[in-house]
Amino acid sequence: MSSRVAAAGADQPLIQVSRLAKHYQNGQGTITVLKEINLQVEPGDMVAIMGPSGSGKSTLLFILGLLLPPTRGTYLFAGRDVLNLDRTAQAEFRRHRVGLVFQSCDLLEKSTVYENLEFPLIYAGVDRRDRPPRIMAALERVKLTHRVRHGANLLSGGEKQRVAVARALVNQPQVILADEPTGQLDRENSHLIVDHFQEIAAAGGTAVVVVTHDPEIAARCSRKYLLQDGVLVEL
Ligand SMILES: Nc1ncnc2c1ncn2[C@@H]1O[C@H](COP(=O)(O)OP(=O)(O)OP(=O)(O)O)[C@@H](O)[C@H]1O
Ligand SMILES: [Mg+2]
Repeated sequence: MSSRVAAAGADQPLIQVSRLAKHYQNGQGTITVLKEINLQVEPGDMVAIMGPSGSGKSTLLFILGLLLPPTRGTYLFAGRDVLNLDRTAQAEFRRHRVGLVFQSCDLLEKSTVYENLEFPLIYAGVDRRDRPPRIMAALERVKLTHRVRHGANLLSGGEKQRVAVARALVNQPQVILADEPTGQLDRENSHLIVDHFQEIAAAGGTAVVVVTHDPEIAARCSRKYLLQDGVLVEL
């Protein structure tokens, strides 16, 4: 699918989401989290999504990462309707196109930092010999090369978050979807991550969509949105 997605996208937005909605069922019935989301992201964009707790920010990122199906709406990635790809093609999309930084970090706690970064490369079919330099380069970006053989369970909260960012970058995805990637970091490390996102975006091809509560980080993005009452409002 990789070449087909790239070829289809030459003059298309990287992400084009239209009239997306998401309802969840809970014990009492249906709750509408996303009512009508319209969003367009170009390569090189760095987009901030802000909004109150529970407004659906993580839900939206999960949908963009194809980890959760929307209730309705369309999602074109480089011009291609990715919601209707079969399971194998969706898995391929996740492996090659998207780098996700989860709010909870979601590291494999029993594995080392090195192994946490190696797994996505193995899944993407990167040759064994090509993995170490890519892993070390990604760790270098988050200033964690000295922790490469450390067990993930022994890292501090902020170090985990930086490993999660490195893991999202290691596959050189076309879009990084980052859910509060600096929530546990001090100012210096927050800036390190945001500087890096800016560099990647400025270099061209890649886009960054970052959920953040930090107005300073949002101010460094090319566009800012507030997610409230199920819709995105540009700030
Ligand atoms: N699987 C689910 N089933 C039912 N309700 C859910 C489910 N997942 C999320 N929700 C509800 O959907 C709403 C949006 O959740 P979401 O995690 O997207 O919010 P958020 O904006 O990321 O919040 P936060 O800033 O606290 O991370 C919340 O009210 C949550 O309780
Ligand atoms: Mg969230």
